Amino acid sequence: MTQLLYMETFGCQMNERDSEIMAQLLGEHSYVRTNKPEQADVVVVNTCSIRGKAAHKAYSCFGRYKKLKATHPNLILAVTGCVAQQDGAALLERMPYIDIVMGPQSIYTLPSLVAAFRRNQKPLVATDLSADFVIPPFLPNLAESTPHKRFITIMQGCDNFCTYCVVPYTRGREISRNFDDILAEATHLVGQGVKEITLIGQNVNSYGKKGDAKQNKSFSELLRAVAGIDGLERLRFTSSHPKDLSEELMRCFAEIPVLCPHFHLPVQSGSNTILQRMNRKYTIEAYLDKAARLREYRPDIALTTDIIVGFPGETDDDFGATMQVVETVRYHGAYSFKYSDRPNAKAADFPDKVAEEVKTERLARLQARQEEIALALKQAEIGKSVEVMVEGASKAPANQWSGRTGGNQIVNFSCETKLVSGQLLMVEIEGACQNSLRGKMI
Ligand code: 5AD
Ligand code: SF4
Repeated sequence: MTQLLYMETFGCQMNERDSEIMAQLLGEHSYVRTNKPEQADVVVVNTCSIRGKAAHKAYSCFGRYKKLKATHPNLILAVTGCVAQQDGAALLERMPYIDIVMGPQSIYTLPSLVAAFRRNQKPLVATDLSADFVIPPFLPNLAESTPHKRFITIMQGCDNFCTYCVVPYTRGREISRNFDDILAEATHLVGQGVKEITLIGQNVNSYGKKGDAKQNKSFSELLRAVAGIDGLERLRFTSSHPKDLSEELMRCFAEIPVLCPHFHLPVQSGSNTILQRMNRKYTIEAYLDKAARLREYRPDIALTTDIIVGFPGETDDDFGATMQVVETVRYHGAYSFKYSDRPNAKAADFPDKVAEEVKTERLARLQARQEEIALALKQAEIGKSVEVMVEGASKAPANQWSGRTGGNQIVNFSCETKLVSGQLLMVEIEGACQNSLRGKMI
């Protein structure tokens, strides 16, 4: 009998991908997705706990499902992702209406956990995190639709222990996935019509160092192998740690035509004192040198970053150094956040916390300047012809389409004929606003 599944996903691409896997696994057991939670037999909430705000979002959404369960007593509520891993059985104590709590490594057992819960009606907790975990092979089922772009997990977990970060505790040790399994998945996707693949992991450029990497392949070798799949038009990856950015990887940007000219290189802070206290293992000089060398290999490369303001002990001068990096690098985009304490992360115990209003003021100043720079970089595109991959039609007006450049900028453009998502075409850029470019098809 068909059952209905409702999923709510927070957080990063790793979570998006985990949700896709869970939906497919349950699909093999007659579950069909619904977008109405009140119709669902099973609700899965895939949570994120990277920052305090993200975790709060998850906790407040549980409250909604508590209410729903009051009128739908047979509904099974499963919580997965990083909040589930972090809180484990404590989550059940605080929120006894939750039926299943499972960490990211346990997602493959979701169908059996749901079946066990149906049989026994006893809450279940599955939060084992093993360093010997092997990421199972997975071939996405694209039967219903073939989106032109897909993510592939190539590694998971993290061994870096940045002092602000919860990920080593929620995703466990760094584990790389089998090289042949990744290639098989990529080949399968491209064979089904996928045009763009993004290789994802917490720190993709340390691929091959730990876990199922007996074949001893580096990230650059993986990139070259995936890029060689006939029919693949665009290849991307995220996210990277600056300390692991090798010359070999930089060279890929000069040598692999399908590798998109975009590098997300989280800097976090521009101050060496703060970088050291964050345990980032690079100096700002080394970071800037790598950013400059990347541009030598690929002059049109778009750099984006993550920045934390108000890390414990951050002085005005430390923050000034971060502002200086933003000036020097001229990022196409930056995700910036106020520091927040995370469970288990070392910095939570650092004594010299920065006042909330100082963090707020610094963040606003940083974001205002970054927006100006991003807009100026977009304006500099006006008059140029750029290659765009079609994403789809705009809702209105008619004959308006949307796509992305290799540098991952959104481009809205006009075209009278019907286009297909995943199609590549040239667009002349005529205008720029904060979040997108505008142009006409050539
Ligand atoms: N506080 C604020 N920002 C954080 N990030 C990670 N942990 C924290 C924290 N405790 C940011 C970093 C990271 C991004 C995904 O989230 O900038 O790169
Ligand atoms: Fe959030 Fe990090 Fe977990 Fe992704 S890995 S869901 S960003 S805490």
